[in-house]
Amino acid sequence: MRKRLTITNLKKMKQDKNPISMLTAYDYPSALLAEEAGLDVILVGDSLGNVVLGYDTTIPVTLEDMIYHTRAVARGAKNTFIVTDMPFMTYGIGRESTLRNAARLMQEGGAQALKLEGGTDIASEVEALVKAGIPVMGHIGLTPQSVHQLGGYKVQGKLEREAEKLMEDAKALEAAGAFAIVLELVTEPLAEAISKELSIPTIGIGAGRGCDGQVLVYHDILQYSSPYIEKKMVKTYADIGSTIRNAISSYVSEVKAGAFPAEEHSFGAKSAAINHLYGAGEAANNSSNQASGEESPKRDFVSNHS
Ligand code: KIV
Repeated sequence: MRKRLTITNLKKMKQDKNPISMLTAYDYPSALLAEEAGLDVILVGDSLGNVVLGYDTTIPVTLEDMIYHTRAVARGAKNTFIVTDMPFMTYGIGRESTLRNAARLMQEGGAQALKLEGGTDIASEVEALVKAGIPVMGHIGLTPQSVHQLGGYKVQGKLEREAEKLMEDAKALEAAGAFAIVLELVTEPLAEAISKELSIPTIGIGAGRGCDGQVLVYHDILQYSSPYIEKKMVKTYADIGSTIRNAISSYVSEVKAGAFPAEEHSFGAKSAAINHLYGAGEAANNSSNQASGEESPKRDFVSNHS
């Protein structure tokens, strides 16, 4: 069994030029599969607001939502390092409430670290969290919780003054004690320069090849949505959306056609008593196994679910 990574391991991975793989997960099965696949870090991102809850932005996501989903992920990935997003307005509003909200995500959710969006503006809160013993991952560049302030989902750091500000933010987060920083939708040269400047790992999303690790959204790499919207920064590795749609459509057709359930999905009576009372029924009469009144030998399922 693989051991869960620590922030020390993650920092060492940067030194060793061993790229860090991070992916979002929001529930028990996605966490189980991510762990089985050998992922380094799971992010319980507030992107769950978009891809799981159907909101247009991450802004409506609550602390309760994040606790609920982190708990499910923690049950599925007991040996993977889990980072959870602090949602909109649960930090940056004073140290005391930031610490209280962070404590709930760690204690009730079971995260190993928290991610906060922002740079110099939240550095003092990052420092307070780190002093309280909470590992913090920063997040700069396109910060979705500020989408209305940024004027949309646009590449950041294209202008000289924007690039200087992002470099300043990255350094402030490192100085405040962050153990890693997500760089989202940042130009490749700037992301590479920030990665070289810092001693802590950078994890890119739409930030090119110069980062120390990469993060993507579970639903994006699997095309697990409808309609699926292509994004330049995403590579899709499977088309689960089509697979699920086709499977459900086959199920609907078979139910309508009376092809499901078939004999092998049905439970016969142990004795002839039920048949005696109510008759074997039309479906059972068409089946020699059912007509004998004996339970099918294929019924493993019955022991747990009858
Ligand atoms: O919420 C999220 O999924 C994120 C990633 C896009 C980095 O913050």
